[in-house]
Amino acid sequence: MAVSPVLLALVLIVFFPTLTSCSPADEFIQCLSEKIPSELLYPQNSTGFMSVLSSSVQNPKFLTNTTARPSCIVTATAAPHVQDAVRCGRLHGVRLRVRSGGHDFEGLSYRSVRDDGQSFAVLDLARLRAVSISRGSWWEAATAWVDSGATLGELYYAIGKASPTLAFPGGACPTVGVGGFLSGGGIGLMTRKYGIGTDSVVDARVVNADGELLDRGSMGEDLFWAIRGGGGESFGVVVSWRLKLSSMVSPTVTVFNIGKTFDESSTAAVLAKWETLALDQSLPDELTIRVALQGKNVFFQALFLGGCTRLEYTMRRLLPELGMSSADCREMSWLRAMSFISLGSMDTPVEAMLNRTNNLGTYVKNRSDYVRRAVGKAGWESISREHLSPSGGAVLMILEPHGGAVARVSADSTPYPHRAGVLYNVQYAVYWCCDADGGAAAAATGRLDGLYGFMEPMVSSNPREAFANYRDLDIGQNAVGADGLTAYESGRVWGERYFMGNFRRLAAVKGKVDPGDYFRNEQSIPPLLQ
Ligand code: FDA
Repeated sequence: MAVSPVLLALVLIVFFPTLTSCSPADEFIQCLSEKIPSELLYPQNSTGFMSVLSSSVQNPKFLTNTTARPSCIVTATAAPHVQDAVRCGRLHGVRLRVRSGGHDFEGLSYRSVRDDGQSFAVLDLARLRAVSISRGSWWEAATAWVDSGATLGELYYAIGKASPTLAFPGGACPTVGVGGFLSGGGIGLMTRKYGIGTDSVVDARVVNADGELLDRGSMGEDLFWAIRGGGGESFGVVVSWRLKLSSMVSPTVTVFNIGKTFDESSTAAVLAKWETLALDQSLPDELTIRVALQGKNVFFQALFLGGCTRLEYTMRRLLPELGMSSADCREMSWLRAMSFISLGSMDTPVEAMLNRTNNLGTYVKNRSDYVRRAVGKAGWESISREHLSPSGGAVLMILEPHGGAVARVSADSTPYPHRAGVLYNVQYAVYWCCDADGGAAAAATGRLDGLYGFMEPMVSSNPREAFANYRDLDIGQNAVGADGLTAYESGRVWGERYFMGNFRRLAAVKGKVDPGDYFRNEQSIPPLLQ
């Protein structure tokens, strides 16, 4: 007797409900458990799930009960695990959020906003973190292969231990992941001398949307261009990077920290002079002075790739208003300097750079700008008066100088376009405790938005540039899904602020390598299909 399909379906539903209600997430986990060791898989109901999920979260705002959680975390330890995760994800319609160091300002490496209700998994690379240094020779530059899940601290430590004259132009925070840092370009205290982080990338291994593992030769120059600053998540999973290491002339670098307050009438004048230095040809590329402002306090922090005597001479010549003297100098190795800058103490062993433990303290929201025309003394006085000294928690501003090597590279040679003519990058941050969406959050973000609005006439325009690594979902949020706009058109709203004229090429590369848009987050590059 022939059984009707309808009857068969009914029988299956009644007697084998689990077979027919198996979700994409279950099928994804089943698919992966057939390929990779089970101890690398953390389904949502497993014991270790929450501790693995929170292990590299930096902002407790994204770890609340209302945050969308992944159905599963895959803790890859080798490239084939990444390939299996991509293949199983595509087969069963489960998207991956790729996480290296977890520092994304909007938490997009472990939470989903846009795909609410849809199942997603986190591909965590924290255990994929080997660093292998090749010290080079007189005819060959020193290089390093570094896995994406390594932190900048782990990279610096391996380089510093290999040679006192090798370095890498990374950022100041040692727990930032190499994967995310390089995916957005990466700026820091040696950008003026050696460019942004991705200017030193010479090869990479990427798992594409078909699960293939490609190197520079097999991925082609378009994709190799796009992954060097075109933003995380969009083009594939970068498993590892080959970096050209910077060869320093001297094993000794010098650091100083000088604090001032806005109560001193000269402080605005020092800032006005400082901000013009980035494009002053006589400022050595070896010197970077970044500035942090909060409340009435202004903090000048310098890294000089050389000794104190030359630094003092340079400061007397170019910025005597700061009053720097040899008493402010601290000479040390580059590794020690990176540790001192981030950890703030000479007594802490450099091994502390290897500590990955996160500190889930206050909530934070960040934004960014680029300045191309000096704000000037009156401008700094008004910023301080109107916005930096309110009662109840001031906005922090960090100013990172450009010029030098970063400006000598053309704006389209990598996706990072903020080069010639940029004086400095601005990062804004507000902190509050301890609710994600309540009154304290509204007050803090209100202060931030007030300053951000006030800055508009003083920063770059058309577009108002922003840094992809300082992800900000408030940029262009009204455009997402707006009536009549294609994904490409709505993506332009934030994409052209991060990538300027490079956005179209990024979308075209995306259209070639991932036309089905498997690698996707709220601000990933939309495919431009031609
Ligand atoms: P995370 O793992 O959260 O990833 C960030 C994004 O990249 C996500 O979209 C993720 O999906 C994607 N991604 C991660 N790994 C990937 C991979 N292997 N392949 C493909 N996509 C991947 N920046 C800077 O330039 N200079 C600085 O000095 C600092 N300092 C700093 C300090 C602190 C405390 C924070 C919180 C952040 C910074 N940043 C920074 C910003 C930082 O560079 C940026 O948030 C990076 O994206 C963080 O990289 P993680 O790997 O840690 O983040």
